[in-house]
Amino acid sequence: MKFYELTPQERRDFLEREGYITHNDARLLRLTPLLREYAADGMIENQVGIMGIPIGLLRGLVVNDKEYNVPMATEEPSVVAAACAGAKIARENGGVVSAMWPVRVIPADIVFQKVSPAQQEEFEKRVEEHNKDMVRVMQKAVPTLTHHNGGIEGVMCVPIHKGEFWKVRLWIWTGEAMGANIANKLSEAEAKYLEGLLGIKPLAAILSNAELQTVGSGVEIDPESLETKTESGLSIARKIVALSRWSELDDTRAVTHNKGIMNGVVACGMANGSDTRAIEAAAHWYAARNGAYKPLSTWYFKKGTRKKILKGKLFMPMAIGRVGFSIKTLGTPELCQRILGAEDLWETQEVFAAVGLVQNLAALRSIAGEGITQGHLKLRSYNLARAAGAQGEEIREVAEQMMSHPKRTVRQAEIKLARMRGNDIPEDEEEDE
Ligand code: MEV
Repeated sequence: MKFYELTPQERRDFLEREGYITHNDARLLRLTPLLREYAADGMIENQVGIMGIPIGLLRGLVVNDKEYNVPMATEEPSVVAAACAGAKIARENGGVVSAMWPVRVIPADIVFQKVSPAQQEEFEKRVEEHNKDMVRVMQKAVPTLTHHNGGIEGVMCVPIHKGEFWKVRLWIWTGEAMGANIANKLSEAEAKYLEGLLGIKPLAAILSNAELQTVGSGVEIDPESLETKTESGLSIARKIVALSRWSELDDTRAVTHNKGIMNGVVACGMANGSDTRAIEAAAHWYAARNGAYKPLSTWYFKKGTRKKILKGKLFMPMAIGRVGFSIKTLGTPELCQRILGAEDLWETQEVFAAVGLVQNLAALRSIAGEGITQGHLKLRSYNLARAAGAQGEEIREVAEQMMSHPKRTVRQAEIKLARMRGNDIPEDEEEDE
C-alpha cells in the first residue's frame, strides 16, 4: 500500500518501523498539538482557544543527495500532495541542489530625520570612530548574543531621499534564531547611544525584514518524467517554460506563481514554528527588489545539450530560525525539526527552498497539463474515500465514483462504500445522484 493510502496511525507506525521517528515522537505526533492552555495563554493576549492545523509529510525529497521527510503544516488540501508529486519528479532526476549563504545577518535601522549633507559626513565619521563603543553597548544590551559569538557584523550609514532621512544600518548575526527580537532590542540600545553621540534624537529603531542573503535551489528534469496520460513530457515542459516566461513579463501572474512557491515554503515554516509573515514579507520584498515584481523561480531549457533538459532555478530569502521562544513553547516545531533531521539552520533553509521549487514544478505541471481543478477534484475524492473508511483497493474505486458525483460529501462516499461492500443503506439515506 502507498503511504497516502494508510491511516494516520499506520503512517506513524510505518515511520517508526523504518526508523524515521522514535516511538516517543510517534506518540507525540498523535498527541499534537502539544500546546497546553497555560502556555498558550502566556503566548498571546486574550487567548480563548487553540487551533489545530494538520501536519502532513512530504516524503522522499532529495536535496544535495540527502533524502528528507519534510513536515508541512497547512490547511490547503492540495499542498502536500503536490509537493510529493514535485519531489518524486525531482528525485527521479537526481534531486534538488540547494545552497544557502554561509553567513546570515539581520538588518536593523536607527533612522534620523532631516540630516544635512554636512551633518551626514560628520555623523558618518563619528559613527566610524565609535564602532568599538557600539560593540560595548551591544555586549551590555544582549549578553547572550555575545556569548554565542553573535552580534554586530557591520555598520553602515545610508542617506534616504537626499537626507530627508538618514539611517545607521546594523548587520546583526543572530545565530540560529530568526532574530527579530534580538535585532529590535539591540537597535533600541544603539539608538540611545547614538542619540548621545550625535546629539540628535532618532525617529525610530527597528529591524528590517529585507533579508539580503538568499538561498538558491536548482533542479534539472528530463522532460519524459513530466508525461501525463494524455500529453508528452516534452509538450508539458515547453508549456512550463512558457508559463515561466509569462510570469516574468506579467506581475499579476508572477504573484500567483510565487504564491504557489510560498504554499510549500510557508507550510514548512509553520511546522518549523517560524514567523511565516516574516518569510512572506522578505520573499515578496525580494521579488520586487528591482522595482518590478518578478517570479522567484524561472524555468528554461538548458543550453548546449543535445537532448532537451528542463532546468528550474529559485532564489529567495528564507527568514526562519531553528531556536526561539515560539518554537520552544509550541512544542510541535521541535518535533517537526527532529523528523526533518537537518543538522543546522542553513541546511533547513536549503531544504525549505527545495520544497518551494518542487511545489512550483508540481503547480506548473498541473496548469500545463490537466489543469488545477482536475487535480484538486481527484485529491478531494481520494480524501473523501478515506474519510468514509475505504481500505486498500476500495479507496481508488470509491474515489473514482466520487469524481463524477454531483454531491461530494463524506456521507455520499460512505453510501458508495456500503453499496460496494453489499451493506444495507438506511432508506431515507439513499444516494443522492
Ligand atoms: C494555488 O494555491 C497555487 C497555484 O495557483 C500556483 C500557480 O498558479 O502557479 C496553483
